[in-house]
Amino acid sequence: MARATTMKQIAERAQVSIGTVSHVINGTASVRDKLRRRVLDAIASLGYQPSQLARGLRRNSTNMLGMVIPDITNPFFPRVVRGVEDVAFEASYRVVLCNTDNDSVKEKAYVDELRSYRPAGLLVIPAAQRSLSFNSEYPMAAGLPAVYLDRRPAGWRGDAVVAANEEGAFQATSYLVKAGHTRLAMLTGPSHLTNASERLAGFRRAISQHKIRIGQEYVQETRFDRETGYRASMRLLRMLPRPTAIFASNDMVALGTLLAIREMGLKCPRDISVMGFDDLEFGMFTDPALSSVHQSGYQLGATAARLLLERILGTRLSSRQVVLPTELRIRNSVAPPSALAG
Ligand code: RIB
Repeated sequence: MARATTMKQIAERAQVSIGTVSHVINGTASVRDKLRRRVLDAIASLGYQPSQLARGLRRNSTNMLGMVIPDITNPFFPRVVRGVEDVAFEASYRVVLCNTDNDSVKEKAYVDELRSYRPAGLLVIPAAQRSLSFNSEYPMAAGLPAVYLDRRPAGWRGDAVVAANEEGAFQATSYLVKAGHTRLAMLTGPSHLTNASERLAGFRRAISQHKIRIGQEYVQETRFDRETGYRASMRLLRMLPRPTAIFASNDMVALGTLLAIREMGLKCPRDISVMGFDDLEFGMFTDPALSSVHQSGYQLGATAARLLLERILGTRLSSRQVVLPTELRIRNSVAPPSALAG
């Protein structure tokens, strides 16, 4: 293994002092052009790579942004990361990614570890509302700029970026009602997450505004993934009377619903309508193409990264909570209920 080049070797090659080399590398004092040129030539010929870790320890911060996401297998989250990365890279920051599998203990372990690498800031999509990476005993914001996105931990008063979850779910449910559905079911997402409970609140607001009553069994909790979406949908599809429309609180869950409908020998939307949330790309290729509430994962990430950089650079002191708009995207998975349904 090649050994790392040291400042001493550069100084010997350039025939200058170690202090001069350090000033050129760290920009800590101006160095005459002729000497600077000799140092830069020596750096190039020796292939010197500065150690970010050593730099971080000296300055107590690196150009690294730590990012914690809950589920790397869900295509929504790579879009969020991409938004973060584009903004960060442009500003010469680098992103280090950690995946928690929606596990709060793993989240706290990653946040603790990331902090020890002296990041410039953190972006966290928490695994639970009672987040272990932020609570009264663990005030994550102390001394380290941080932004929570997509979901908010309880009690967090710092920077946050989320989607208009309640309004998006309200629009989606109202659309189903206007299409003629009264036997509406919802697959909610984990009740301990703010975005899932906001979507449920939007669903409930729409049905109560239209004076529709549904049985408690028509509201089923899932884990925001295809498997639990499939299992909960199977339960709904076996009920009598069967719901005529299912609002799934994300597209992965809706994918499980479409699979369950197919396995039960039913047809969407003839026998049952399906609406998702997220508007992921695969929704255009399912059969039928999935109607969904669009939220931009990319904008979520990019906006959060901009807020974080403002904090790091000190150009804004007060905290901001940004709510990004959602939009209904109607494709082929919703139709009026058939007279034969259920
Ligand atoms: O699909 C992932 C879901 O979990 C999204 O709806 C997002 O808002 C999230 O938290």
